[in-house]
Parts: sequence; structure tokens; C-alpha cells
Amino acid sequence: MSVDLQTRYLGLDLRSPIVASASPLTGSEDSARLIDEAGAGAIVLPSLFEEEILNEEIQLNRSLEAGTDQFAEALAYFPTFESFIGVGDRYLDLLRRIKAQSSVPVIASLNATTLGGWVRYAKLMQEAGADALEVNLYRLAADPVRTAAELEATDLELIGAVRATISIPLAVKLSPYYTAFAGFASRVASTGVDGLVLFNRFYQPDLDLETLDVVPRVDLSVSADLRLPLRWIGILRPQLPAGLSLAATSGIHAGTDVVKALMVGADVAMTTSSLLRDGPGHVRALETGLVAWMEEHEYTSVSQMRGSANQTAVADPSAFERVNYLNTLHSWTAREGAAAS
Ligand SMILES: Cc1cc2nc3c(=O)[nH]c(=O)nc-3n(C[C@H](O)[C@H](O)[C@H](O)COP(=O)(O)O)c2cc1C
Repeated sequence: MSVDLQTRYLGLDLRSPIVASASPLTGSEDSARLIDEAGAGAIVLPSLFEEEILNEEIQLNRSLEAGTDQFAEALAYFPTFESFIGVGDRYLDLLRRIKAQSSVPVIASLNATTLGGWVRYAKLMQEAGADALEVNLYRLAADPVRTAAELEATDLELIGAVRATISIPLAVKLSPYYTAFAGFASRVASTGVDGLVLFNRFYQPDLDLETLDVVPRVDLSVSADLRLPLRWIGILRPQLPAGLSLAATSGIHAGTDVVKALMVGADVAMTTSSLLRDGPGHVRALETGLVAWMEEHEYTSVSQMRGSANQTAVADPSAFERVNYLNTLHSWTAREGAAAS
């Protein structure tokens, strides 16, 4: 039996629902080519961080000023701002090169810090040929004087500004840390974006007890991390407009994880950790697992599967929500009891 893996994401027709999410792998021409050859439906480039551009400009300014103090004539040897090839230009170059070599859509990704930065770089990415843009809202609400409502209003303002600037499809990658997630997701949808990517994983810093330094830790995910996007996509799919795409990211490691994401209503399943761990060729293993499951369960297409187990489609809709908390705890006690006897 042959199965049809095609899916539609952000208005783009993809050959497969397995998408490589932003990571250093998608930011290298060689590994992006291997990901493409292994059958991914699309490639999301790593984010361009405006913060990096600003830091670089500050460093450059310092070098130029140091040069003027000491040797005026040495200034001639420093590049001017205009001729300086910075982080932003290098990113746009990479985008053009990966776009030129790819047989699938290439989605650029942006994390800016200022409204001007969001708008400026979104436009440049569109001009450089991105098939779509993913805006990566990655920040921690750690300021005690800023309320949830203020932070959400800021996010909606910048999403609206980016939407108004570019005509290519736009996706927003969100974290789960919004106080009323369903309400916020629905307001993001009303800005006219084409899709939501759920969820950004926040990397938790650790403490080195010898030096008392706070050290960044990037841990790869495991399949269990899929449960958070699974629950939310299941809940949101019936609530959000049917034309709004949903991407699951976090914990996609096996073909059956892709199946779960599609069943709750995702249009694509994105993966980073599995490719970092097992290499770009792992896309093929994910596809093999997906196809095997579909054949065994007599599904002939991804569109036939999609949303079959969203909140309104399952026998027990409350299972997606917290009302099931007590049952979950009781089921654990029952399991423990059985193991002990
Ligand atoms: C090393 C590394 C780098 C990443 N860089 C980015 C990035 O630049 N932009 C972004 O939106 N997400 C980035 N991510 C997040 C991934 O795109 C993905 O959403 C997340 O890792 C969850 O998926 P996973 O469980 O398959 O790893 C990165 C993840 C890792 C592990």
C-alpha cells in the first residue's frame, strides 16, 4: 500500500510532514543538504538574533575608537560600517545559499529585540528569498513591574508589525509560558499569521558548584517532551481557524511521535534533537516509522489522519485538560500497587 505524505503548512505544499526545526544543523549548507536528501518537507534555518548584531556593532565601534586614540593613520585599515560584513549579512548570505541548493521550502527565523529590528530583518529575509518566516519569541518574563497583559500586548504589536511588513507566510514560535495560553494563541491568530509553532524549549541554566557560575545547559529532548505540544495542539486545533497551520516542536524522535503530532491536529512535526543526536539521515527513519504505522493502521494519507484525535474528536475530551489530574494520580497509585504485589 502506498501512502500520501503530502501536507500543507503556512500555505506551502510540502512533500512530507517531517520538518527540520531551527538548529546549527540547518545553518550549515552540508547538513541542510543531507536533511533535504533524507526527505524533510521543509527546513527552518537557525534564528538570526538581533542581539548578536547589536553586540557586534558595539565591539566594532570600540575597535574603531581604540584605533583613533592610538594611531590615527591606522583607521584606514579598519573596515567602515558600510563595508563591514556582519552577522546580519552573513545570515542573509547563508539563507540565499541554502535556498539555492534546496528542493524544499526554506523558512528563515528571526529573534529581534527592538520593533525596528523585527521589521527590518523580516523584510531583508523576504528579499533574500525565504519561502516563509518564523518569528521566534524567546524571552523570560522576569521583570517584576511588567504585567502579563503588557508583555502580551508587546508581543502582539511586534507580530502585527512583522505581518504588515512582509507578504511571505509568517509563523510564530511561542513558549508555553503565557498565563492564559488558549486566549493568547487566539489573539496571535487574529493578527493574520499563517501558523503557530508549539513550543519553543527554554534552556534552563545550571549552577556549577565549584565556581558558582551559572552555566548554560542545552539538553536534547526525549519523546516524553512531546506531551506538552501534544496536549496544546489537541486543545487548540478545534478552537483556532481551520486555515491556521500548527507545527509541533519538542520531543519528535520516532515515527510514532510524528503520528501523535498529526493525530492531535499538527500539520507538521518538527525535529531538532533527534537530528543532532542521530544525524540528518534520521529524517528517513522518522518517515519509515510514520509510513509503517500508517500502513499497519490502514491510513492512506496524512490529511486523513490529521486531527483524528484532537479534543473534539476523542472519546474523552476532558483527558486533554487538568480535570483529569486526579485520575492521573490515581492511575499512578494503582500501577505502583500492582508493581509492589
Ligand atoms: C542546539 C540548539 C539550537 C537551537 N537553535 C534555535 C534557534 O536558533 N531558533 C529557534 O527558534 N529554535 C532553536 N532551537 C530549538 C529547536 O528548533 C526546537 O524547537 C527545540 O529544540 C525542540 O525540538 P526538539 O525536541 O526536536 O529538540 C535550538 C535547539 C537546539 C538543541
